[in-house]
Amino acid sequence: TWTDLTQQPEDPIFKLLNECIADSDPSKINLSIGAYRDETGKPWVLPVVQKAKQILLSDPASNHEYFGLDGNRSFTEASARLILGQDSAAMKDKRVTHIQAVSGTGAVRLGADFLAKFRPGTVYITNPTWGNHPKIFAASHLKVVEYNYWDGKTRTIAYDTLLDNLNTAPVGSIFVLHACAHNPTGLDPTHDQWKQIASIMKERQLFPFFDCAYQGFASGDLDRDAWAVRYFVEQGFELLVAQSFSKNFGLYSERTGCLTGVFADKETTVKAHSQFCALVRCSISNAPGFGAKIVDIVLKDAALTKEWKENLKTMANRITLMREKLFEHLKKMETPGIWTHITSQIGMFSYTGLTLAQVAAIKSKFHVYMTDEGRVSMAGLNESNVKQFAEAVDWVVRN
Ligand code: LMR
Repeated sequence: TWTDLTQQPEDPIFKLLNECIADSDPSKINLSIGAYRDETGKPWVLPVVQKAKQILLSDPASNHEYFGLDGNRSFTEASARLILGQDSAAMKDKRVTHIQAVSGTGAVRLGADFLAKFRPGTVYITNPTWGNHPKIFAASHLKVVEYNYWDGKTRTIAYDTLLDNLNTAPVGSIFVLHACAHNPTGLDPTHDQWKQIASIMKERQLFPFFDCAYQGFASGDLDRDAWAVRYFVEQGFELLVAQSFSKNFGLYSERTGCLTGVFADKETTVKAHSQFCALVRCSISNAPGFGAKIVDIVLKDAALTKEWKENLKTMANRITLMREKLFEHLKKMETPGIWTHITSQIGMFSYTGLTLAQVAAIKSKFHVYMTDEGRVSMAGLNESNVKQFAEAVDWVVRN
């Protein structure tokens, strides 16, 4: 009998998305899931992705054969270079291994399974964080501890709490670090703060596991967004990086990702690679081909890479513009409260500071869908709905 089979509540982000899809009100605003929308509110297939698709389609040699367990190696190598740098010394020293994963989620899960097996420890995640983080690490049977990352009063990083946790976590613990554009707060440590974080982590032998889902969205510059990961590698850390190409290539449903490991020496790296492959074999056998082929076509061609960077800027700039517009509307209406964080936060999200009750009220009165914690996917805003959203916020904080 199915004694322990209980009804699992729906995943909050997908539940919200489904509720929004089901809402027939024409004025609804979807600010739920982190997926880019163009200025007409439609999903955007990046022009460079369209081109890469044409190239793939017209290649007579293209086929649907299996790649190895580690996936499309040309893609994973390009992916590792994108985050570690084109001239990565660790890559030259053969201390880096990479394996294709089922987007960022699959890469985090693969890394979590690997750590659970070969380097178990308590996993520290920020509170708030992406809702799936605690679930993934728990599914890998790792103990998960949350710590405050957001100071609601100042609407900045709770940096002292972060340092406290680094200083008091058991030696050897794992820290999940958002490489850039922290989800959901849009707040990243400064370079000096990263340096201090790295120094404590080194002293206390804490293991960095970077989740990199938004490279290109924080500053609009891929290298600048990779700064923290590269700094940690330069400081001699062994680490893991999970990369997603869902957002920066708009390949959401193609599940395109990579797990990269940097290790102390070549021997460990070779062994780690074999274990990555073993874990992949018994879960997905090997990751899907299409999205990885698209990214590979773009990254190995200088002109297409240049175009991709422009496409990325189009997305990042439109989001920045929406931050400014939203802020302007709130300012004009003299909406009670401080709203400067709308423009100072970075990446795809704005962490508004609205309460659970306010989020619910906005949803029922204005058909605006944002996550319970008050996170807004800024890409859901455009010239036609930003004022309407600002008015909803204004109403809710005054009532
Ligand atoms: C999000 O945070 O909205 C995205 O990362 C999508 C997801 O899978 O939750």
